[in-house]
Amino acid sequence: MKGKVWNHDKIAYGGDYNPEQWPEETWEEDMRLLKLAHIDTLTLNVFSWAALQPSEDSYCFEKLDKIMALAKRHGMKVCLATGTGAHPAWMARKYPEVLRTDFYGRKHKFGARHNSCPNSLIYRKFSARLAGKLAERYKDYDNILAWHISNEYGGECYCENCERAFRTWLKGRYGSLEALNCAWNTSFWGHTFYDWEEIVLPDQRSEHIDEERTVAQAISLDYRRFNSDSILACFQLEYDAVKEHTPDIPVTTNLMGAYKPLDYMKWGRCMDFVSWDNYPSNEDSFSQIAMNHDLMRGAGGNKPFVLMEQTPSQQNWQPFNALKRPGVMRLWSYQAVAHGSDAVLFFQMKQSIGSCEKYHGAVISHAGHEHTRVFREVAALGEELERLGGEILGSAVPAEAAILFDWENWWAADYSAGPSVDLKYLDEALRYYTALHRQNIPVDFVCEEDDFSKYKLLAAPVMYMTKPGVDGRIREFVEKGGTFVATFFSGYVDESDLVVLGGYPGRLRDILGVWVEEIDALPPHKKNRFTYQGQEYEAGLLCDIMHLEGAKALAVYEEDFYQGFPVLARNSYGEGRAYYVGTRSEEGFYRKFMENLCKEQQIKPAAQTPENVEAIRRVRGQEQYLFLLNHGEGKACLEAPEDGTDLLSGQGYKKGDAMELDAKGVAVLKVC
Ligand code: GLA
Ligand code: ZN
Repeated sequence: MKGKVWNHDKIAYGGDYNPEQWPEETWEEDMRLLKLAHIDTLTLNVFSWAALQPSEDSYCFEKLDKIMALAKRHGMKVCLATGTGAHPAWMARKYPEVLRTDFYGRKHKFGARHNSCPNSLIYRKFSARLAGKLAERYKDYDNILAWHISNEYGGECYCENCERAFRTWLKGRYGSLEALNCAWNTSFWGHTFYDWEEIVLPDQRSEHIDEERTVAQAISLDYRRFNSDSILACFQLEYDAVKEHTPDIPVTTNLMGAYKPLDYMKWGRCMDFVSWDNYPSNEDSFSQIAMNHDLMRGAGGNKPFVLMEQTPSQQNWQPFNALKRPGVMRLWSYQAVAHGSDAVLFFQMKQSIGSCEKYHGAVISHAGHEHTRVFREVAALGEELERLGGEILGSAVPAEAAILFDWENWWAADYSAGPSVDLKYLDEALRYYTALHRQNIPVDFVCEEDDFSKYKLLAAPVMYMTKPGVDGRIREFVEKGGTFVATFFSGYVDESDLVVLGGYPGRLRDILGVWVEEIDALPPHKKNRFTYQGQEYEAGLLCDIMHLEGAKALAVYEEDFYQGFPVLARNSYGEGRAYYVGTRSEEGFYRKFMENLCKEQQIKPAAQTPENVEAIRRVRGQEQYLFLLNHGEGKACLEAPEDGTDLLSGQGYKKGDAMELDAKGVAVLKVC
């Protein structure tokens, strides 16, 4: 199992299958079709709580027994869900406490899914119990690859139960009301708390202006921490319940990429491996998709992960659900594998006949046979993955550059009232990521506790919050020769969103060698300018007005009253360098700038490729797999970057040989 996410000998291929929604007589035909598509893995039981537990004291596993037997008989591996992604109606009626109360204070009725209050003891008890029963019942199935706990955990609850639990959580964090009042700066607007019972959840009825804006950042920040922890505790209860019976089966839950409400850096490290659901919108760039993969790999500590869901073609929940053009499903599947996935799984195997997902893409469509474009594409990819066999599995995606990404910082930066409503943490991370990614520089995402020493370059866009100790770790990284990149709106506050006094960027000031005196927020149509290495670039969003304290200016503003002030600075610190980018610029600047930093640090791209051809490597011992992915609309011509064989076409290449990639084409060069 070394390096591998689970016990499979090839890239797992398949996904969500809901035979319980269909008459049993149809199951064998489904199996025929799925095997025709070279599918070997089924994700079962995702929303079966109501079926498995018809009442408080009765459980009914007969149907699932048959489904498990069916999968086994047909040689399918199983990703077995605990089915707790939606509670049963009887439970909501009998125990209304399982129902959530939303941000507006509305107590929900039964309906939809992901609908349980994470602090309801009833929900916790029954979900963990069901998970345990499933593990006990199916523990002897040797084809279970993993436990899939619940489904896409998320959302918030603002019920009275959560309010009580919040107070308990706060007592654990602060110990005393005095410490809490201090951390929350409650002397502002007369918020001092004299009794824990006075504390209420920060929602539309209390501290919030709307979902994104609050008047008490520290309270909302703690609520986000608390909510993420509360839901994580539900995951952990089910985790423990299945582990009791099946200690050797790995456990996961499907994450959602850059999903803001849950601190996935914390979550990922509580899971045996990370799995996630990739549903890009039509507007997402291929770098954005790549970033989500890398972020998810980072959440799990930069180990291989599982692509748990993607649609074979269409989605149903976007405003405009475009088809995946021919070749795109294959391309995006290999992109996932290239970034570290050991599986290509879909939602869903078979299109349902009713409710909101009946028009969501599936391997078996309403037509019910194999003569569709989508089926043919799925089957062709299945055949290819079968031929790949055990190649690639468990290999790593080595990176020398990393982006420091922190959910608490994300919450805090986006909650900040001022300086600009357009400042969005995720957007800024994407700019730096894209600059590296478009040059085929592999990137890891790391959290503040990770080991920075294995990287040569660490970029921390909008590191608004500096938590205790992290500045010390960055200092050490730079001292030992690392390159650190920070931007505007960094180092301002501590973990409670209290400003670090004495001048921005606070605890990072000596590392960066600058003092930021003021920040100008420009409306979208207004720009300043600067020249970097002979080329002029725009400066927008925020313009820091800074003084050099040891750093050297690499560029200065060219307009306005701060004309001549530095906008880009470099500080030599120990054996390394720290760069400060005092404004938001344009893509051309980020590319050039990051290219230079990579050159300085001798960080090499995975390969030199034409525009729109992505290159990335997976490595396992001596084996190297170089993925070449043509995201462009036309044929791409390039020179083979290495000697090797394309595992997909069987074609051998010598370095420098002409290679052609069709539009949306892929090559996986096994380097020799
Ligand atoms: C999510 C869920 C699935 C399904 C798909 C549809 O990812 O996990 O159950 O609803 O979306 O895109
Ligand atoms: Zn609640």
